[in-house]
Amino acid sequence: MIIGVPREIKESETRVALTPTGVSTLIRNGHTVLVEKNAGLLSGFTDRQYRDSGATILPQVVKIWKMAHMIVKVKEPLPSEFKHFRPGLILMTYLHLAGVPVVARALCQRQMTAIGYETVERADGEHPLLSPMSAVAGRMATQIGAQLLHRGIYGGKGLLLGGVSTTRRGTATVIGGGVVGVNAAEVAVGLGAETVLIEANPERARRLRERFMDKALVLEAGTDNVATWVKKSDLVVGAVLVSADKAPKVVTKRMVQSMEAGSVVIDVAIDQGGCMEPARPTTHRKPTYLKYGVLHYCVPNMPALTPQTSTEALTTATFPYIMNIAMHGLEGAMQQDVTLGRGLQCKGGKIVHPVIARLFRSLAAPGLLQAA
Ligand SMILES: NC(=O)c1ccc[n+]([C@@H]2O[C@H](COP(=O)([O-])OP(=O)(O)OC[C@H]3O[C@@H](n4cnc5c(N)ncnc54)[C@H](O)[C@@H]3O)[C@@H](O)[C@H]2O)c1
Repeated sequence: MIIGVPREIKESETRVALTPTGVSTLIRNGHTVLVEKNAGLLSGFTDRQYRDSGATILPQVVKIWKMAHMIVKVKEPLPSEFKHFRPGLILMTYLHLAGVPVVARALCQRQMTAIGYETVERADGEHPLLSPMSAVAGRMATQIGAQLLHRGIYGGKGLLLGGVSTTRRGTATVIGGGVVGVNAAEVAVGLGAETVLIEANPERARRLRERFMDKALVLEAGTDNVATWVKKSDLVVGAVLVSADKAPKVVTKRMVQSMEAGSVVIDVAIDQGGCMEPARPTTHRKPTYLKYGVLHYCVPNMPALTPQTSTEALTTATFPYIMNIAMHGLEGAMQQDVTLGRGLQCKGGKIVHPVIARLFRSLAAPGLLQAA
């Protein structure tokens, strides 16, 4: 199989979908790998390392899209990449189509075969290709939130999240107790903040109580709990996920308005449309905005801030799936592995993932109705 690795072009994206080690394993097994010039540079991999591993380095990305049987990427394609789409070409990347219907439309119109890392799902509901980036984003959310609370250049209320022995400590509330939530809460606990974790699934909430013991207060989700704790919090992290679906708006405009001026909200679920009513996507170049006196941080590709960690964590998880497809073809690989099969989102001009298809039907998204 010919596998193509374009350079990521989303604003400030620094990750790359395949490392030189991955390339050499594919080459040893008889495949061809085309890597765009400088694709790995920001993750610490030079063209020379890729070439030494057996990849062909191409300066023209158009050739990579044209020659490859499968394109592996990190983030969803941008409109300038849609022209490269063609029927049957396999694309493997984060798609988060619920947040970007325009990408869904382009994939369907050009009959691409697209696998979204975020819906590759085990029988127990775990997402093995989402969780490494969720772990990074969760830890980062509290670190960034703590920084934004500083007054200086950030304009926060001027609070040290963990406080010191003679002051009150800050309160951090994390909504959604999955991978992002647990990692965000662990950092909050580590920094010394009063930490609250609100989770919708009662069984998961029970396990979180066992895990955090007296270090964090774990509550079951309910509007009252969320409203009470958002109001009391200096930092709120939104970390909910309903797999493949648009994020539910668990934090309303009123709740944000009830927060003290200079507090901070971080909507990590912004990639699925955001779980806070006043949230809109921001970029690494301009990551925050002030609304109702509260600083909002809503960057959909947070792990791009730490490419050394993120590329390694991502590719460790994705590579076995890429290898399986290269060795057995997509159909063969999906037959062997239903976890991978759940990642298939578009094929033959249709949205084939049931949750995404239902979502677009309910939104009556123009151009997607017949596709869905
Ligand atoms: N912004 C970024 O850079 C970035 C990076 C990684 C992940 N993410 C996103 O973060 C979100 C969370 O990812 P995850 O891996 O932690 O998912 P996860 O499935 O591990 O956890 C989500 C949790 O939210 C809970 N939940 C669902 N609805 C809820 C509600 N109404 N109230 C409280 N809890 C609720 C679920 O029960 C689950 O435990 C996803 O949208 C993911 O795509 C964003």
